[in-house]
Amino acid sequence: YIPSQDEVQLCTLPTEPVVAAKKPFKVELVEGKRYSWCSCGHSLKQPFCDGSHKTKTKGLMPLRFVPEKDSKAWLCGCKYTANPPYCDGTHKQEFIQSALLLENKD
Ligand code: FES
Repeated sequence: YIPSQDEVQLCTLPTEPVVAAKKPFKVELVEGKRYSWCSCGHSLKQPFCDGSHKTKTKGLMPLRFVPEKDSKAWLCGCKYTANPPYCDGTHKQEFIQSALLLENKD
């Protein structure tokens, strides 16, 4: 039995995020606005979702949130924060700093 190209593709879609950036993105959040933070790292609209998770990953979803007040925030760009969508400093670790950045072009 030889699996078809489509099946192979499905089996190998990553379930882990890729490192979109090695540092956080500073953003001005607006009270009551709906945001979707990219959790997979494939979005071209970092740090926000552009729908890329649907084709580039298996089961990764954006994190949706609504700020309770206007605020500045550092949103995680490395996608490995333990406190999503916010940066928690994880990006300073070696496994992030040494990661190859994905070239987002198809
Ligand atoms: S950018 Fe991800 S933890 Fe700082």
